[in-house]
Amino acid sequence: MTAEEWDTRYRESERLWSGRPNDVLVREISDLSPGRALDLGCGEGGDAIWLARRGWHVTAVDISRVALERAARHAAEAGVAGRIDLQRHDLATSFPAGEFDLVSAHFLHSPGDMPREEILRTAASAVVRGGVLLIVGHGGLPPWDHDHAHVRLPTPQEVLADLHLPEGQWEVQVCAEHERTQSGPDGRPATRTDNALRVRRLTGEEVSR
Ligand SMILES: C[S@@+](CC[C@H](N)C(=O)[O-])C[C@H]1O[C@@H](n2cnc3c(N)ncnc32)[C@H](O)[C@@H]1O
Repeated sequence: MTAEEWDTRYRESERLWSGRPNDVLVREISDLSPGRALDLGCGEGGDAIWLARRGWHVTAVDISRVALERAARHAAEAGVAGRIDLQRHDLATSFPAGEFDLVSAHFLHSPGDMPREEILRTAASAVVRGGVLLIVGHGGLPPWDHDHAHVRLPTPQEVLADLHLPEGQWEVQVCAEHERTQSGPDGRPATRTDNALRVRRLTGEEVSR
């Protein structure tokens, strides 16, 4: 999907996502001390705002101007606009500058030929020593989802392998599938499979031990 197609998708409704942070982000990140975070494919800003409220300085990136405008509005309403730097990037061709204590990519899927594996490898290289990379994605489709029918949905082990992390430099903290219930367009709930990968870049001291 191009930037224009994502804009159109966002314009189809007032609000595409719930505005709440993703469950896995809350579960996996609550124990970390705030620092610099990068949210890839931030959508309407639910995760970025939650992080900013907890004291993180967040760079939040999306391809869609419509999504970014909404994220800016929601951040201002939440009183955290000063802690969120919203940037428009097509991650297939450009990536935000800087190094981060947390890089988070939640459901960075896009029908079409987005080079997800390459983007996630760049994401890993933007994590500081001692920092965390959290990747959450769909592992299977619910019955109503036709958007992702042609999108590769890797297992968490495949996501990990595709990162090509140098041996001895990273600790795998979570690499697992989980199920969650989601309501479809007709309001009926269905169970779907997602997966989560949390890897921590070892500090220089840990590497030389
Ligand atoms: C499925 S949504 C997930 C949004 C949000 N992370 C969440 O969990 O609610 C995927 C997001 O990735 C963005 N996206 C898709 N392709 C992108 C690209 N090439 N570069 C940057 N963002 C992209 C879309 O605009 C959309 O906001």
